[in-house]
Amino acid sequence: MNHAKPIISMQGITKHFGGVTALEKVDFDVLPNEVHALLGDNGAGKSTLIKILCGVHQADKGKILVDGSPVSITSPKEARKVGIEVIYQDLALVDEFNVIANVYLGKELTTSFGEHTTSILDERRMREGTKSVLEKVKMFIPDIRQRVYYLSGGQRQGVAIGRAVNSTQKIRVLIMDEPTAALGVEEKEKVLNLIRTLKEQKVAIVVISHNLEDVFQVADRVTVLRNGRKVVTVPASEVSRQDVVGYIVGVETGELSGKR
Ligand SMILES: Nc1ncnc2c1ncn2[C@@H]1O[C@H](COP(=O)(O)OP(=O)(O)O)[C@@H](O)[C@H]1O
Ligand SMILES: [Mg+2]
Repeated sequence: MNHAKPIISMQGITKHFGGVTALEKVDFDVLPNEVHALLGDNGAGKSTLIKILCGVHQADKGKILVDGSPVSITSPKEARKVGIEVIYQDLALVDEFNVIANVYLGKELTTSFGEHTTSILDERRMREGTKSVLEKVKMFIPDIRQRVYYLSGGQRQGVAIGRAVNSTQKIRVLIMDEPTAALGVEEKEKVLNLIRTLKEQKVAIVVISHNLEDVFQVADRVTVLRNGRKVVTVPASEVSRQDVVGYIVGVETGELSGKR
């Protein structure tokens, strides 16, 4: 059991989009070094909750604490500043760029020379840096000068994770939106291994997923949302897949078996 204090604590989060209540008084926390699965049907509010944590949306009500102190996360930049990194489902890789350029996208290294200090890209340091982050997440890509277009789904996740962890900023929590969706069995296994590797390196991870089999292979805790409300947060070892399906669709086990 993990009795540590939460590194992230979202409390009483409420969010409306016009007349739609996307989230209603949701509490969600992340413990140090845990893999926390966020589950729920389409429209349950998963993405909205994560976007509030990442500074894409602002909550109408509620607060966010980081290491016990209230913070105001009004932009993705602010989220990054407190160590919250997210990998969206589409991964946001640039297909036409190679692995190195993707790992350093938006954080290119430059070197200056000459009297008028002309800045040029520091290719060598970025190449070395790319090798070292990929090693860190144990993702093997034979040729990092290859365009990411040609990589497999698992390798693309590896590059996206490499980019997220390629930061001088300490990462408190890495959020992954549907990381195993649309991957073959072998590729899925690679991504699950990436998650295990990150956990070994003491990164806390929030995984949004539809695939219960995948989730149960890596999750320490599970939170289920339904219609914008939190149904439950439980240790993964204390619930069956069937229980979780029940929480997701809103049918308690008692109802299924005719008792109530
Ligand atoms: N930008 C938006 N504008 C209007 N409604 C939205 C917006 N984003 C989400 N919603 C609505 O909020 C609810 C929760 O959506 P979402 O958080 O995307 O759910 P999930 O990620 O669990 O599928 C849904 O009813 C959805 O239609
Ligand atoms: Mg979503």
